[in-house]
Amino acid sequence: KVDEAFGQSDGAVVAGTIADLDNAGQLYQDNTSIGSIAVIRSPDNPQKLLAVDPTCTHQGCTVDWDGDKKQFKCPCHGAKFSANGKVLKGPASSPLGTYKAKIQGNSVIVSK
Ligand code: FES
Repeated sequence: KVDEAFGQSDGAVVAGTIADLDNAGQLYQDNTSIGSIAVIRSPDNPQKLLAVDPTCTHQGCTVDWDGDKKQFKCPCHGAKFSANGKVLKGPASSPLGTYKAKIQGNSVIVSK
């Protein structure tokens, strides 16, 4: 479930809680008011959150976060993306879209 964040009108959404993020290693929300969202902790700096649009830029499948390899993988044709959405392997040629993510209280807030 996605709520508009604290009445903000700038399209920020609550992607989930910090506890959910740390239990699952990722947060996914489909079709929020700002698009589909995947949030992870930065592999380089776990204090930092990274948020991308998990819609593959090849043909629109939803990419999966591989927490062991620290990359997003597309189940359809095998494209791979880094934690911040850069293309590591084709056939996709464009990076994933990105968002801003921050922690507010116990919640993860994502905005464009
Ligand atoms: Fe992702 Fe083709 S849709 S690699």
